[in-house]
Amino acid sequence: MNRQSILVTREIFPEVLDKLRTHFSVEANQEDVAWSLEQICERAKGKAGLLTSGGERIDAGLLEQCPDLKIVANTAVGFNNFDLDAMTACGVLGTNAPDVLTETTADFGFALLMATARRIGESEQYIRAGKWSRGRIDFFAGSDVHGSTLGILGMGRIGQAIAKRGAHGFGMKVLYNNRSQLESHLEQACSASFVSKEKLLREADHLVLVLPYSAQAHHCIGEAELSLMKPTANLINIARGGVVDDAALAHALREKKIAAAGLDVFEGEPSVHPDLLAVPNIVLTPHIASATIRTRKAMAHLAADNLIGYLVQGKPLTPLNPQVLQRCSGND
Ligand code: GLV
Repeated sequence: MNRQSILVTREIFPEVLDKLRTHFSVEANQEDVAWSLEQICERAKGKAGLLTSGGERIDAGLLEQCPDLKIVANTAVGFNNFDLDAMTACGVLGTNAPDVLTETTADFGFALLMATARRIGESEQYIRAGKWSRGRIDFFAGSDVHGSTLGILGMGRIGQAIAKRGAHGFGMKVLYNNRSQLESHLEQACSASFVSKEKLLREADHLVLVLPYSAQAHHCIGEAELSLMKPTANLINIARGGVVDDAALAHALREKKIAAAGLDVFEGEPSVHPDLLAVPNIVLTPHIASATIRTRKAMAHLAADNLIGYLVQGKPLTPLNPQVLQRCSGND
């Protein structure tokens, strides 16, 4: 019997590739060449599945040219690279990689919060530049984390894991805003209170963004929202570029409308807005919140298991548009 063909668009752990090769004929990109969308599309033709990193746009244009495609498995929890409606219309299943990265990403959100509040990036650069001689009494004085108010915008699994760290580890008061209020047992587990977005902006000492990107979430933190925040507040973005208006944020940081920012994601990344690079009160990291070896392996295995689960056993693990499955089983 002919093996089904799949395409792996970016370098992946060899053990995951080996697992895929026991089931499929695999075209892989182990050299991690930066394929253009056209090149991905060309290579995806005739493939039953794609394993994507989370950056490759999967839209009607690609789907039209790849009628054999049945599934695209992202190795990311976010899936704003998918046009899910177009995929559903074409009967193509999308899967993501939730859960396995929750705690690791929450650790990183908290690390970025602490680095921002305690000015670790700035002070590290100061030493490297050979500038350290004597410190004044307010030398790199930042803001306290313990006992302060933690605001969380987007209270999914990662938001809740950050809330637990804040409430139980650092005695923080935790406020959150989300599309919908959590069930009370979930709120209690992370000692968090639901508030309006305006109250969240006004009261948070440290505001962490963890909401998924969508057209509605685009620039949900812009000039108006930043102007509601305390001048002593810190903003942390581990959600997605585009959730924050980066130009407005750079302006707010320059004008000291807020104290500092910690950013792991950027509009148009890997490019970073030049005004953000020019302000000192910022910690910048290159989209690495889920990046521990153990978690990245777990994400890659989950994406591979989704491909195997769907194409070989008919049962994906984390489907995003299960309508496609119902339609398939309805056709049996
Ligand atoms: C990372 O940003 C992810 O969505 O997994």
